[in-house]
Amino acid sequence: MTEKSTPQNTPDIKVTAELRDIQGGAIGFFKDHERFLFINFADAATGKAFITELEPTLANGLEVRRFNEAFSENRRHQGDPDALQSTWVNFWISRPGLTFIGAPGLEAFPDEFAAGMGARNALIGDVGTSDPATWQAPFTGGAEPHAVIVLAGDNLADLDARRTKVEEMLARHSVTIVGRQDGDARPAPFGGHEHFGFKDGVSQPAIEKFTKSGKGGTIPPGDVFIGYRDSEGNISGQPVTTPPVAPTPYNPTPVPAPAQPLPDWTRNGSFVVLRKLRQDVGGFNTSMANAAPTVGLTTEQLAAKTVGRWPSGAPMERLPGCPAHIDPALNDPSVVAPEVLNAQHINAFDFTDDPDGNNVPRGSHIRKMNPRKDVLPDGDTSDKHRMVRRGITYGPEFTPGEPVYGQTVPDNQDRGLLFVNYQASIARTFEFVQSHWANREDFQKPGDGKDPIISQDTPDGPFNVPGHGQVNFARWVTTVGGGYFIAPSLSGLRALTR
Ligand code: HEM
Repeated sequence: MTEKSTPQNTPDIKVTAELRDIQGGAIGFFKDHERFLFINFADAATGKAFITELEPTLANGLEVRRFNEAFSENRRHQGDPDALQSTWVNFWISRPGLTFIGAPGLEAFPDEFAAGMGARNALIGDVGTSDPATWQAPFTGGAEPHAVIVLAGDNLADLDARRTKVEEMLARHSVTIVGRQDGDARPAPFGGHEHFGFKDGVSQPAIEKFTKSGKGGTIPPGDVFIGYRDSEGNISGQPVTTPPVAPTPYNPTPVPAPAQPLPDWTRNGSFVVLRKLRQDVGGFNTSMANAAPTVGLTTEQLAAKTVGRWPSGAPMERLPGCPAHIDPALNDPSVVAPEVLNAQHINAFDFTDDPDGNNVPRGSHIRKMNPRKDVLPDGDTSDKHRMVRRGITYGPEFTPGEPVYGQTVPDNQDRGLLFVNYQASIARTFEFVQSHWANREDFQKPGDGKDPIISQDTPDGPFNVPGHGQVNFARWVTTVGGGYFIAPSLSGLRALTR
């Protein structure tokens, strides 16, 4: 378990009833092991009967939050990471799944959800080697399974036992498992680090009232859950009264305002993006080693500038608590000042001291994903597009010397990130950030380059390292599957099966 060291998830009595209704995955399971079962129903009646039996076994937001808080306190006090353990189950359903069981009100759903991730490939840059035509089962050709069962746990034996029970339930209702995916945190000492070697999940916004976080700022519940005020000032899932946004060169496809409200059963639900992103670790390491000397940086410095943080999670911007003689853009400050990794320091920067990107290039992954106080084209602000990420790594550890993915790829070399995020609008959150920020060479400014980590729409591209020059990077991340889902509330699931 990797993220529970933060003082997250203090219950707020005002939303206790809502937390009991939402599924807990949006709050954050933060488990070392996850098992995804991709399923198709046999017919509407047996599908609904399955959901009816499954619903009371699903983890709600309150129990997940209280568990996480107890875990953090226990670890702070006793330091035993295994003292408290749990296994959680959640359920997501796709548009094909909703159609199949005859869910009401589907005509009100936004276009992107109706189309599915595969059909949105041109917009989000899943082209070339990431084209849905190349995706793995069960996402072959961009297909979305009817639903996903997510199991998450600390203990593998408990997780297996729970999965067996769920599989028995599936069999009783003639539901077919069309795919399986395991996600596992990397082994110590890399727990919580993604496969390129960087600590992940460092900057996570808290959801106002629903979670409490010491790091990463706060977003309104309406950015994550349906039925609450969002950061645009609208109620998520409801038609807006403000005039529609006109297309501009920067934002040629503004998110259309919903014409009609989402059906009542979606309240307290959240849309989920799942992306299976395969990582070419050997290719990443090779690129860094080859390019670093050409711009007068060490391999580690260039890799850190590509992400925007050091592998430890320490930012490359100056932080409170960092010794004055340490330049955080040149050395990982946590080596001499471990306190920079504390919750009150680790996100205490907003790029206002670094407008030109001399420390953290504007094209780096974290600055693309969250430009903080940067002044954005067309006056947009980054706090309207923050992401609640709940992904996990998958696949074996990289062994130096193994063939580089993309050149010679034995089947057993599939490793990467199961990217998961929750939002009230996929268009305004995941799709916007991926298409307008990550995939644009001119975001924020011409020459910044595309996000070197996640823009898969070109085989290579320039990355600008201010003060050092430009490097041309290959692509190391390939989309090999994914889909758009909704995690309905528990009351929403009951309404759906009535
Ligand atoms: C294999 C693919 C990916 C890798 C290796 C990766 C890696 C990382 C790392 C190392 C960080 C810095 C630590 C942190 O703040 O959590 C980060 C941050 C972040 N990533 Fe990714 N990421 C990947 C895919 C994505 C995707 C697909 C998105 C969304 C489109 C995304 C959105 C974000 C966001 C929003 C942040 C936080 C930025 C901030 O607030 O500073 N990442 N990622």
